[in-house]
Amino acid sequence: MKKKSYICASCGASFLKWQGRCPRCGEWGTVEEIDQNLQGGKKRRDESGEKKVFSLDQITNHSLLTLSSGSSSLDSFLGKGLVAGSVILLGGEPGVGKSTFLLQLVGGFLKKNQRALYVSGEESLPQLKHRADRLEIHNSSLLFMNTTSVEEIINILEEKTPPPLVIIDSIQTIKSSSLQGIPGGVSQIRECASLLYEKAKKNNITLLLVSHITKEGYIAGPKLLEHMVDVVLYLEGDRLTPLRILKIEKNRFGPSHNILLLEMGEKGLQIVSDPSTFFLTSRNPSSSGSALAMVMEGQRPFVIEVQALVVPSHLSSPRRTSLGIDINRLHLLLAILEKRLGVGLSKMDVYAKVGAGIKIGEPGMDLGLCAAILSSYFDRPLPPRSVLWGEVDINGQIRGVRGEEKRLSQASSLKFHPILCPNIRRGEKSCPYINEIKNIQELPLRLWPLKKKDSDLKD
Ligand code: TYD
Ligand code: MG
Repeated sequence: MKKKSYICASCGASFLKWQGRCPRCGEWGTVEEIDQNLQGGKKRRDESGEKKVFSLDQITNHSLLTLSSGSSSLDSFLGKGLVAGSVILLGGEPGVGKSTFLLQLVGGFLKKNQRALYVSGEESLPQLKHRADRLEIHNSSLLFMNTTSVEEIINILEEKTPPPLVIIDSIQTIKSSSLQGIPGGVSQIRECASLLYEKAKKNNITLLLVSHITKEGYIAGPKLLEHMVDVVLYLEGDRLTPLRILKIEKNRFGPSHNILLLEMGEKGLQIVSDPSTFFLTSRNPSSSGSALAMVMEGQRPFVIEVQALVVPSHLSSPRRTSLGIDINRLHLLLAILEKRLGVGLSKMDVYAKVGAGIKIGEPGMDLGLCAAILSSYFDRPLPPRSVLWGEVDINGQIRGVRGEEKRLSQASSLKFHPILCPNIRRGEKSCPYINEIKNIQELPLRLWPLKKKDSDLKD
């Protein structure tokens, strides 16, 4: 009897039985049967006799040749540019700017390299031309193709001199005629991606695959492809604001977990040259409930405004809302503040956010968030140039976080004072404005040292 197998379109987990809800990622309705031809395809390739065994000195590392993307910031963000023959996945929500980013990348790439092919299964050729005109990309070496057929794309990858860079926008629209199932389904995505991957590796072509993330989960997401590609990039951001964040989730050839800040404008995406102060331009330091946190996403520290609003609640269970901050983290910090400082937050509604539509997941933001909450609760602004970082433990102690030296040198070069941070080993470096903090009980007096008597502090 033919064995059936099932796979989750959201996280890629595989199962022997169908289930309504994926036990791994918890999504409903994402588990689908996969096409048996897929497994046959794998077998065919294994039996082709192509696989050989090599010793190290027989292997030439020509595949680590890098191609410049035309932008030094983007090259160093990726490591040393685009590695020839690598397969890169770019994920992001529809409308975030993936096609714009890639077209600009190709435009830059062609300044130093010869040819590139942009395959779109979503947009017509006039639409692509319109975008290229808008981005002022006029280069006859950039070839466009409008197709959804993986076989047509493979014909080009198999040409005698194929283009060194090929973009597929998006993998969810590409289908193979040898398989049943709609484009965007699990079987089609896996088969098309693995066919393209194989041909790109064989012919030393750099392949960029675009993949949409949807919240509904019925379209197979990039998670399904993450394990097979060399580099995984995500473009994030709120479509209503100009800021976009390009993140590296995986990188077989260079740094991972790096980020690059970009700004969407009339002529496409521009790299933000000074991310350290980018978020501070419209801040009003004299209002309460606003704190500056030195956070580190990737290798670069930058300062971000954390805002909180604490108001009396009229609800039996007070409201807690967060934007860009994990809600569980907010709950945890509120409980810690209530227990360790005795502030009556359990009767208050608490709203917290970070600006510009970005999400901060790193623990170093804890101390800044606590300061913003206390500032709103007491309705007292923080010292205007103060900056904070540190993880708050459940027992109220402030823990060190990674990249202390980088955060400190960034804070002192931007002339922040006081700098409230955990007890750090600084070596020989020292900054007069460092205010080391051991536990959360010390925070109010460090923030407002002149007003030591605070009747609200302990009931
Ligand atoms: P797009 O790259 O099509 O997004 P995706 O491929 O991720 O679906 O672009 C999305 C938005 O960006 C679109 O609403 C228009 C806007 N945009 C600009 O603001 N400036 C520009 O120069 C371009 C090309 C697009
Ligand atoms: Mg697009």
